[in-house]
Amino acid sequence: MSKKIYLITGGAGFIGSNYIRYLFKRYKDIMIVNLDKLTYAGNTANLKDIESSENYIFIKGDICDNGVVNKVFREYHPDYLINFAAESHVDRSIGNPDDFIRTDIFGVYILLEASKELGIERFIQISTDEVYGSIEKGSFTEESSLKPSNPYSASKTGGDRLAYSYFATYGLPVIITRASNNFGPYQYPEKLIPLFVTNALEDKQLPIYGDGRNVRDWLFVEDHCIAIEFILQKGKVGEVYNIAGASEKENIQITNHILELLGKSNSLIHYVADRIGHDRRYSLDASKLYNLGWKQEYEFGDALKETIQWYKENSDWWKPLKSGEYLEFYKKHYGMEL
Ligand code: NAD
Ligand code: TYD
Repeated sequence: MSKKIYLITGGAGFIGSNYIRYLFKRYKDIMIVNLDKLTYAGNTANLKDIESSENYIFIKGDICDNGVVNKVFREYHPDYLINFAAESHVDRSIGNPDDFIRTDIFGVYILLEASKELGIERFIQISTDEVYGSIEKGSFTEESSLKPSNPYSASKTGGDRLAYSYFATYGLPVIITRASNNFGPYQYPEKLIPLFVTNALEDKQLPIYGDGRNVRDWLFVEDHCIAIEFILQKGKVGEVYNIAGASEKENIQITNHILELLGKSNSLIHYVADRIGHDRRYSLDASKLYNLGWKQEYEFGDALKETIQWYKENSDWWKPLKSGEYLEFYKKHYGMEL
């Protein structure tokens, strides 16, 4: 059997880089092509340990660029395409939705077209639980209606449904995954957990939105990677799979947990104005994936400990990220200096 070729788009970001690392840990006989635009969130340092591998190729390019995407397909003939590429931060989407609509919808279209014209064995669209919107009680199944409520989740919903349409209309072998909030190593320090861990390590304030009681379901990135690979191999085309962490927490609970693990005082907590359109609670029913045979491997508390340890040991990775445009965004967004 010839080597399987994975085209990973957005592989220099948080989840994509963890997925590439996971694939190389698991398989010896694969080839990985990573196509990434290297936006502010893309970082080649995320894959430093891998970049010299002879089975790895990095291409800097935009998934919205038809010429680049077609060239990659013609040159490497990927078997699988896993699309992680996206603008992914809700707060940035509120101020500036433009790039979200481009990458998260139009970019998906370019990838789907290339796959339809040039062939693909599986197209995995990495969607999100945020497409369902907020839920007060109970959990969303894959059959629930989609009610995204901010420009990020609305753009992701566009990409999600566009991918499905290429299955329904053209028979493209598409599978869609909708995971809950990820955390782990290499997450850009603008998202809740890495922002609060790194701020706390520097004795800086932790800005909690609103009353701090919004609920997210937390999934360790390694469990997410295992689930994606499992779905790629075992999932049915045309289907959607929820991927849950089965660890729902209020933001204030997570914050207190982080402070406790770091031995820091909760006087660092600083309540700030609520995010506009802030979804109250996300919750997934992942029975469909459990019934297919996927099992979560990491317990939340252990995974959080491991994650915090990683940020403690890798300040060389995150300190340079908290500079330049980041500081400008921070000041404008939170109304305070970092
Ligand atoms: P991230 O922001 O860390 O990384 C995104 C990557 O995509 C970056 O490397 C960036 O350079 C690249 N990129 C952006 N625009 C591009 C373009 N036009 N062309 C090529 N590359 C481009 O995001 P993440 O947290 O790793 O999320 C990855 C995917 O998983 C996204 O699709 C996101 O919607 C989805 N997701 C994320 C979470 C989460 O909690 N982080 C949860 C569920 C789903
Ligand atoms: P985030 O990590 O941005 O993920 P998402 O909005 O995609 O779920 O935020 C997680 C939760 O934490 C969300 O309810 C917003 C909240 N939050 C804060 O309270 N303060 C912050 O500085 C950030 C970034 C998030």
